Amino acid sequence: MVKLYDVMIVGGGVIGCSIAYQLSKRGKKVLLIERNQLAGKASKAAAGMLGVQTELHGGSPLYHLAMASRNMYSTLAEELKEISGMAIEYVENGMIKLAKTEEEAKDLLEVASIAAKEEQVEWLSPGSLSIYEPHLSKVVAGGLYIPKDGNVSALKLTQALGLAASRLGAEIKEFTDVYDFIIEGSRITGIQTTIGPFYADETIVAGGAWSQSLLKQLNMTFDTYPVKGECFSVKVSRKVVERTIFTDDCYIVPKIGGRLLIGATEKPHTFDETISVDGLLNLMQLATSILPDLAYAEWEKAWAGIRPQTYQGFPFMGRSEEWDGLSIATGHYRNGILLAPITGVMMADVIEGKDTHSINEYERS
Ligand code: FAD
Ligand code: GLY
Repeated sequence: MVKLYDVMIVGGGVIGCSIAYQLSKRGKKVLLIERNQLAGKASKAAAGMLGVQTELHGGSPLYHLAMASRNMYSTLAEELKEISGMAIEYVENGMIKLAKTEEEAKDLLEVASIAAKEEQVEWLSPGSLSIYEPHLSKVVAGGLYIPKDGNVSALKLTQALGLAASRLGAEIKEFTDVYDFIIEGSRITGIQTTIGPFYADETIVAGGAWSQSLLKQLNMTFDTYPVKGECFSVKVSRKVVERTIFTDDCYIVPKIGGRLLIGATEKPHTFDETISVDGLLNLMQLATSILPDLAYAEWEKAWAGIRPQTYQGFPFMGRSEEWDGLSIATGHYRNGILLAPITGVMMADVIEGKDTHSINEYERS
């Protein structure tokens, strides 16, 4: 057995690449293996929103972790630019979560009062909303404005993390499938791949929605399921929206270069990445009811991706209880881009034997 690596990572999405980057920064010899290309799956499909208040609320176990992760972005963007030369298109453009009815407004005001204890938030009445975003439809009952929520290019972020990791010494093998583990007693000592076996002290499975099918080789039942999301993008010649506009069934994200990204459908229990007319039609109706000018925008493209969800509703990040030398980082569902920086740090801590069971440690950072 020839051991060349300290840590092997299965999966070159944003989670695997973030872990590879953090471990490489700490001087670990890392091998990352990806079946397709880096960022070929969910991490390419993502809208790149960094929304702490929009999908997670004060009561969510992920809330503080997400806030810490979002707050890492401005430094990470600079670091990645310096090491990889790539810009991840990070912008702190703010997010407005809309209430379409008085009832939704009441719920959002509650979210606002909890959020206000820890961050800058502002409740916008329909009148103030039309000053902030004059092109929004008048049929909204108000909105919660979170100035610090921003967005990135999820594709460029993932690629930059991968590139930065490799500049720091990580080896990355694309178009290589990991199909089994090499076991000695109760320890995982290696992986079997389509280009041969590799050995390391530690193996981390970060295979997104496909993690479970690999972990089955170890007779591990892992409670995850895929959730397909479809999106489309358009181009506008003049700015029709400044901030990200979010509702529970649709969002509009302004991107660099006059692009608007509109997402996303939710179709659980399928790995089918085709784009359906019904999904797009529904999204278009929802989006134009919020921002009527979208109807006149130039069509760009549509795509779909598969989110990794867990039945418990939050990601698994840590060591396997059954196998020594094995860790798992998946199940980030709708927030993998937001949570990628902190996941990289947490998993590097796990590998270095630091106690990370308490999320609180990160809440304070
Ligand atoms: P993936 O990106 O799917 O990567 C897993 C990788 O592992 C894949 O490339 C796969 O090929 C590889 N792999 C799996 N098994 C093997 C194997 N056996 N051998 C080799 N390679 C393997 N999150 C946000 O925070 N903000 C957003 O705005 C946002 N928008 C989204 C919009 C859509 C439409 C979708 C679908 C998701 C969105 N998300 C968003 C969620 C986010 O994209 C995911 O949580 C995140 O990308 C998951 O990253 P991952 O690395 O776990 O998975
Ligand atoms: N977080 C947005 C999405 O998953 O669609």
